[in-house]
Amino acid sequence: MGAKVITYINEKGGVGKTSVCYNTAWELASQGKRILMIDMDGQKANLTFFSGVLRTDRMKTIVDVLKGGISLEDATVAVKENLYIIPANMAVAEIGMDAKISRFRSELKVVKDSYDYVFIDVNPSPGWGHYLSLSVSDFAVVIMLPDIASLEGNSGILESISEIQETTNEKLQIAGILFNRSNDRTNLGKQVQEVAKRMADGAETTIFESKIPQAVSLSECVAAHIGITEYDPGSRAAGSVKDFVAELERGVV
Ligand SMILES: Nc1ncnc2c1ncn2[C@@H]1O[C@H](COP(=O)(O)OP(=O)(O)OP(=O)(O)O)[C@@H](O)[C@H]1O
Ligand SMILES: [Mg+2]
Repeated sequence: MGAKVITYINEKGGVGKTSVCYNTAWELASQGKRILMIDMDGQKANLTFFSGVLRTDRMKTIVDVLKGGISLEDATVAVKENLYIIPANMAVAEIGMDAKISRFRSELKVVKDSYDYVFIDVNPSPGWGHYLSLSVSDFAVVIMLPDIASLEGNSGILESISEIQETTNEKLQIAGILFNRSNDRTNLGKQVQEVAKRMADGAETTIFESKIPQAVSLSECVAAHIGITEYDPGSRAAGSVKDFVAELERGVV
């Protein structure tokens, strides 16, 4: 079977793509699953930072892999038991058309039996990084905030995903839409969820039952380079990540 490839995505910045990717990967690794994370956001390289990997000009990145020369394995850095990362630096921000989908697919194929999941974290701007990542993924997880601006980001990303499904990757599925910093209590929060539900129906996907709450510990844990389920195990935020992990695993079989 091999690893499932999942991209965490939205065309809106700051919605929690990297936080969810990292915390989900951390928890799955703690449960004994083997995870390879790929940082496709060269500008910020937040996933690399969260993982406690020092960004340097000399490190090997996905760009070195996709331009040929080295394998994914050559660029892989260990984060903790069962958890690995292909880090990013500024070179990844300049990823362009010389980075080929076919090369990405064949490189992933080589490592697929060594992992249960490959998680890709992207920057918010639609561009070559999004195109490459979605083209090689089995699933996309769309992350959104319960606000009006996020709904707009959603229609953009759902349209882009549908284009990829019709062109480079017909097997791409949307695993679901995940609310981060969720807020069920306000009317606005509820209204946004209703609209998002209709959008999900239109894109033949669902809203995840699990929702990640607003929690200071979620920004603290990444600064300490530890997943929330280990940083603050009894917290509501940790519980929500565990719930999401279980729901994700049920949904991507
Ligand atoms: N549920 C949450 N509660 C509190 N803080 C959060 C939560 N989710 C994310 N954050 C914080 O919000 C900021 C943005 O999160 P993150 O970097 O994960 O978003 P992103 O979508 O990857 O952003 P970008 O588009 O810039 O890559 C970070 O400082 C993070 O610690
Ligand atoms: Mg990010």
